[in-house]
Amino acid sequence: MSKILITGGAGYIGSMLCTKLLQEGHSVTAVDLLKYDKGSLNHLYFNKKFKLICDDIRKVSLMKKLIRQHDIIIPLAALVGAPLCEKFKKDALSTNLGSIKTLCKLATKKNKIIYLTTNSGYGIGEKNKYCDENSPLKPISLYGRTKCDGEDLVKSKIKNFVCFRLATVFGHSYRMRSDLLVNNFVYTTVKKKKLTLFEPHFRRNFIHVRDVVNAIIFTMKNFNKMKNNVYNLGLSSANISKIMLAKKIKNQYKKLQIKIVKNRKDPDKRDYFVSNKKIEKKGFKAKISLEEGISELIQIFTNDKNKVINNY
Ligand SMILES: NC(=O)c1ccc[n+]([C@@H]2O[C@H](COP(=O)([O-])OP(=O)(O)OC[C@H]3O[C@@H](n4cnc5c(N)ncnc54)[C@H](O)[C@@H]3O)[C@@H](O)[C@H]2O)c1
Repeated sequence: MSKILITGGAGYIGSMLCTKLLQEGHSVTAVDLLKYDKGSLNHLYFNKKFKLICDDIRKVSLMKKLIRQHDIIIPLAALVGAPLCEKFKKDALSTNLGSIKTLCKLATKKNKIIYLTTNSGYGIGEKNKYCDENSPLKPISLYGRTKCDGEDLVKSKIKNFVCFRLATVFGHSYRMRSDLLVNNFVYTTVKKKKLTLFEPHFRRNFIHVRDVVNAIIFTMKNFNKMKNNVYNLGLSSANISKIMLAKKIKNQYKKLQIKIVKNRKDPDKRDYFVSNKKIEKKGFKAKISLEEGISELIQIFTNDKNKVINNY
């Protein structure tokens, strides 16, 4: 069993990951400032193999001690999303990139690093572009740039790493995010019964948060065959446009009205088809469908208004 350090362990992905890794018998230390949901790890404190350190990952002395004590490091702590990073530029740089620089200085060959970045820099301004891991990344936001620069650092400085370029994540987590596209569309559907779409044919790739967790566990089990590589990580059947997504939601929520607005531009210029073949060839395939995710999200937003938490 491994000793695992997860920064941002109380977050949307982190809280689901900590839970599953403990269920699998690993020892997990989470470091998190609990910026959003203070209760997302409440269900784990009973477990003797779990520890939360409520502190700032930018403290070098803290990270030095923790990196030495753990085998696997999964750095998730970040200011996540373009609007949040625009609002807090200095913190975005020091958290998203500064902490990765520190990690690269402190990690030894004993450490295995699994780093999550975003595929959002693919396909910018190019309609229906097909993207694999060799396609150029052209991030337009500060958020995207910090994550791409973080990936470059990890690739050049870390001895044992796996990087994932994630699709947009959806589904339930102990720390909910309703600013992610699928989650947001379902939340708006339940609240307003109406979705207003602009640039409705822009295509994106999506993945359920439990499939992200499953991919990380698969990577830990198959580290030697996966290592020192970058992989796109998304659900291959979920390379779909905003209008297709809205129609999938309407299939399950008949009262929904979909309104298309012309002459309004989406500031997010992604319009792409992302290939996940590289990781699928290694033996991992995301499986949880958009339909399953939409169904659980309808229940959540209908029954619990406290689950509406945005990052900005
Ligand atoms: N959710 C997605 O769609 C998605 C897609 C691509 C990549 N990612 C990456 O996955 C990672 C996790 O994303 P998420 O969706 O879980 O985000 P999140 O905002 O839910 O989680 C981030 C966590 O980091 C913590 N944090 C922030 N600054 C900190 C600091 N200085 N010290 C300690 N803790 C701090 C926050 O309290 C929060 O719990 C991020 O690195 C993100 O870039 C996420």
